[in-house]
Amino acid sequence: MVFFRQSFALAALCLTHAASALPALHDLSSRAQSTDLCGNSANLILPNTPWIVYNMLYNAAQMVGTQCTNYDKVTTSENGAKEILWSSVTNIDYVESTNNVPKGYSFVGLTQNLETKLSTIESIPAAYSWKRSNTTDFKGNICFDFMTNDIKGDSTSSSSHELMLWLQYEGGQLPIGWTNGPVATIDNLFGTSWKLYEDVNTDTGITVSTLMPTKQFEGSFTGDLKDWLLALADLGIFTESTYVNVGNAGTEFFYGDAVMDATLQLQINLP
Ligand SMILES: *[C@@H]1O[C@H](CO)[C@@H](O)[C@H](O)[C@H]1NC(C)=O
Repeated sequence: MVFFRQSFALAALCLTHAASALPALHDLSSRAQSTDLCGNSANLILPNTPWIVYNMLYNAAQMVGTQCTNYDKVTTSENGAKEILWSSVTNIDYVESTNNVPKGYSFVGLTQNLETKLSTIESIPAAYSWKRSNTTDFKGNICFDFMTNDIKGDSTSSSSHELMLWLQYEGGQLPIGWTNGPVATIDNLFGTSWKLYEDVNTDTGITVSTLMPTKQFEGSFTGDLKDWLLALADLGIFTESTYVNVGNAGTEFFYGDAVMDATLQLQINLP
């Protein structure tokens, strides 16, 4: 949820390098070996894909245990789109005093076609399927997390908006702004209605707008995420000329022993 600037800088560097060092037009993604990312900000940029895989433990200091994000492979799905297989392996002790502190975010982030005005984006097709097996109580969620700002490329100043779309959550996780009550309702988006919760994340100074589904998704989601961003623009949170600077799909975790296996398609299509 925080410190995306680092992933960006890395992504930009790598893509520049990749463009000169690797032949284009081939699916070279298989060249990236499957790997386990367990460090506090361990990540892997996948050349010739739109993705970076990231194990972001922004509250590692308050975490007792381990957390890894494992990259498996990139394949082509039945619908012809690239998809990434990955997993998030959580072994974090329940500690009473920090049970309500998210320890981090395990995710697949976009590296291509970002920093584009919402109005210019043609579509953001997404298909996210997951299965979590936990052997102790687990607290955490499955979500998309995007960031917009009227300033191109800015995802760290307080003028940024962090936008979360929660698909599933368990163990009693609640969004930032929960105690304020819902500030809006969105009907008929991705087959359900949603309540919007909002407040400033005091760690980042950035306002977080979280949509919680009336009916949780049970292991799979398909949709054009541009519809989500347009629904927020309709509510006046930003205008369609704002920039989409960050986008990713992942899981937040607080505690528990759990393995989440996931398959993801996610990309930004420009005209
Ligand atoms: C998995 O986590 C959920 C939420 O904390 C809990 O209700 C469930 O009992 C857990 N399953 C096991 C096998 O511990």
